[in-house]
Amino acid sequence: MAMYSKIAGTGSYLPEKILTNIELESIVDTSDEWIQTRTGIAQRHIAADDQMASDLALAASRRALDAANLKAQDIDLIILATTTPDMIFPSTACILQEKLGITDGPAFDVQAVCSGFIYALATADMFVSSGKSKNALVVGTEIYSRIIDWKDRSTCVLFGDGAGAVVLSQSQQPGILSSHLHANGGYSKILAAPGSIAGGKIQGTPFIAMEGNTVFKFAVKALEEAAIESLVANNLQASDIDWFIPHQANIRIIKSTAHKLGIPMEKVVTTVDRHGNTSAASVPLALDLAVRDGRIQPDQYVLLEGVGGGFTWGSILLQW
Ligand code: UT7
Repeated sequence: MAMYSKIAGTGSYLPEKILTNIELESIVDTSDEWIQTRTGIAQRHIAADDQMASDLALAASRRALDAANLKAQDIDLIILATTTPDMIFPSTACILQEKLGITDGPAFDVQAVCSGFIYALATADMFVSSGKSKNALVVGTEIYSRIIDWKDRSTCVLFGDGAGAVVLSQSQQPGILSSHLHANGGYSKILAAPGSIAGGKIQGTPFIAMEGNTVFKFAVKALEEAAIESLVANNLQASDIDWFIPHQANIRIIKSTAHKLGIPMEKVVTTVDRHGNTSAASVPLALDLAVRDGRIQPDQYVLLEGVGGGFTWGSILLQW
C-alpha cells in the first residue's frame, strides 16, 4: 500500500516585541500609509537580543509537537529552513535538536531563502513517504531584523521575525500529493545579502539588497506558474483548491497571483499584515493560523507556495 506523509500538527511563534509602521516613521522617512498601501503590512515582530533563530524554532516546534500529540523523542528527522542561522556552524537544526533534548536522527538546515519551508517540507516528504522517517519536524525560522539595514527604507519596512513548524508523519491517507521545486541562479543579484566572511570579518554588505519591482514581477509569475504546474499534476482546477497559502511578502503580490489563478481572496490565507515578510517562516505561520482558527478542515485541498532569493520557488499540494 502506498505510503503518504501527512501533517500531524502545526505550531508557530512570534516574538513578543511588535514594531508598528507608526514607530518606523521615526526611524526612516516613511509613512504608515505608504507601507499599508504598497505592502499590506501593519506591523512586524522583532526578536529580543538574546533570542536566536533556534529559540523561535523551539517555541514553534513545541507547539507543533503538542498539536500532533507527540513527544520530541518521537521525532527521527529535523529539517530546518533559515536564512539567518544562529551561527556559521553547527546547523540551526542541530542546535534545535539539542534544545529539544533529542540525540538521534538526521538534522540539517535548508537554505532556500523565502522558499525554504517549501524546500524543507518537500524534502521531508521524500523521507517520510519512502519509509525512511516516521515523524519529521519541519521548521522555518528567521530573524531578518538582524540582516536589515535600518537606514534603508526600501527594505527595512518589509521584514519581520518569526517561526513556524509542522510535524510530518507517515500515513495511509494522503497527505502531501505533490511537490514542485525550482531555482534559477541567474536571478541571484535581484535579491541578496551579498556579504561573505574572510579573516574573521564581513566582506561586502551583510544587509538585504533588493530590486523591489523586478522581484515583485518575478514573484507573481513564479507563483502563478508553480500553482498551475501543481494543479495540472494532480488533475485539479483552481476552483478545487480550498485554501491557498502563498509566501507572505506583499499583499499586492498575493492578490495579483490569486487573481491570475482565479482563486477568490476568501480562500487565501493572509498574515502579512500582522508580521510582514518572515521569509522561510511565513508559510508555516499562515498555515498554523488557518489550522488553529478552524478554517482548514479534513480532506480539504491546501496549496502552499514559496518564492524568494536564489531565485527559488515551488509549490506543495496537500489534502488535509
Ligand atoms: O520574499 C520575496 C522578497 N521580497 C518581495 O517579494 C518584495 C517584492 N517587492 C515589493 O514588494 C515592492 O516592489 C516594494 C514594496 C518593495 C516596493 O513597492 P513598489 O510599488 O514597487 O514601489 P517602488 O519601488 O516603485 O517605489 C515607489 C516609491 C519610490 O519613490 P519615487 O522614486 O517614486 O519618488 C521609493 O523611493 O516609493 C519610495 N519608497 C518609499 N516611500 C516611503 C520606497 N520605500 C519607501 C518607504 N516609504 N518605506
